[in-house]
This record gives sequence, structure tokens and C-alpha cells, in this order.
Amino acid sequence: MEEKKIAGIKATEYIENNMIIGLGTGSTAYYMIEKVGELTKLGLNIKAVTTSQGTADLAAKFMIPLISIDEVDSIDLVIDGVDEIDGQFNAIKGGGGALFREKMVANIAKKVIWIMDSSKLVDSIGGFPLPIEILSYGYSHILKELEFLSLHPVLRMRGGVPFVTDNHNYIVDLHIGKSFDIKYVSEKLMTISGVLETGLFLNMCDLIIVGTGYEAKVTENKGR
Ligand code: 5RP
Repeated sequence: MEEKKIAGIKATEYIENNMIIGLGTGSTAYYMIEKVGELTKLGLNIKAVTTSQGTADLAAKFMIPLISIDEVDSIDLVIDGVDEIDGQFNAIKGGGGALFREKMVANIAKKVIWIMDSSKLVDSIGGFPLPIEILSYGYSHILKELEFLSLHPVLRMRGGVPFVTDNHNYIVDLHIGKSFDIKYVSEKLMTISGVLETGLFLNMCDLIIVGTGYEAKVTENKGR
């Protein structure tokens, strides 16, 4: 079985009856959502908050009961993917452009599980371009500021026009490279007017599940 599928299915073992579940976005999350659909069909009683319109459409297809983030005080468990993660559980997310909602959902979660294939484990993050969500208004000036900071910004495009997020904003991918000061960049970015959120998810998970070969390797984050 594919590594992503192994990890996605394994994560559903942590779901309990009557939980509010946060459903992540991406190809690994797909397998988890598909399995959650099967479980709800068999009688599992949960409600799900989604991290993107794509995930909401998928969950609806699998008849998973949905609830809006504003109707819940907290989320019992979030299961989401990552683009890169280091040994200190610092991750880059947002390859699918859903980082803003993914971070909001993770911020109100009691437990966060990240699921992935083995290629996502790295010594240091930054090989994968760091996505950030920015306002479309004045985007050219935001890009100039990011350029000035030597963060090598590239406005994400789709079909010849800027990619637009579910929140009607733009995504900029920062080609920073591996050896950057994670904390400094994270804090600096949030001081720029028009930067709404970054894809840096620093020590925000409780557990990672990595699909390797024929099994799922579960690692607890003891530093949280
Ligand atoms: C979307 C994300 C995804 O979780 C991340 O891109 C991983 O995707 P995949 O499971 O398809 O590799 O952050 O914004």
C-alpha cells in the first residue's frame, strides 16, 4: 500500500465517538478522509471542521457531518499532512494553499496528528519553498518587501493568473533554502503589512505518523 495511504488510515485509529475532528488538506489527508467516511457509514458519530473548500467537498461526498469552525469552542483532534518536517517537529505546510485555515484549526485543537510519507522527513526545513498567505491588495509592494529581505518570493500562479486561496487572498512561495533562522523569519514575516499567515508550523503537533514500507511509524512529540 502507498505510504500516504498507510499513514492516513492509521491516524483514524485515534478518532473516538462524539469527537469534533479537524480534517486536513492534501493527498495524504485524502486517504484519512476516505477512511473517516467509511467509519461514519459504520456508525461512528463525529462532526468535522474542514481546512479547505476541497476538503469540505470531499467530506460531503463521503457523507461526513460537517460543522463550521465558528460553531465549536475547540477541536478534539486534527489530522493533517505536511510538506516538510525536521527532528524538532518544525514543519512547512501550505503546499496546497490551505495554510491559513490549517493553522487556525490546529490552533484550537486539543491534539494534532500529522500524517506523511517518508519523503517529508528532513534534517532541516526550507528545501520546500515556504508558502505564505498575503492580501491581494498591494501585493506587488509586499513582494518588494519580501525581496528586500532576501526571502526570494515567487507569487504562486495557476493557469496564468495568481492562485487565489479559499479566503480570496494570494500565496507567495519563499525560496529561502535550508539554512535559515526559522524563528527570526517566522516573526519577521508577521510584521509585514499584508502578510496574513505563514506556512511555518513550529512544534505544533503531538504525534506524527509516517507511512514506511508496509507499516505506519508513530512518533510522539515529547517536547510539547
Ligand atoms: C496543504 C498542506 C498539505 O497538508 C501539504 O501540502 C501536504 O500535502 P500532501 O499530503 O498532498 O503531500 O499543507 O495546504
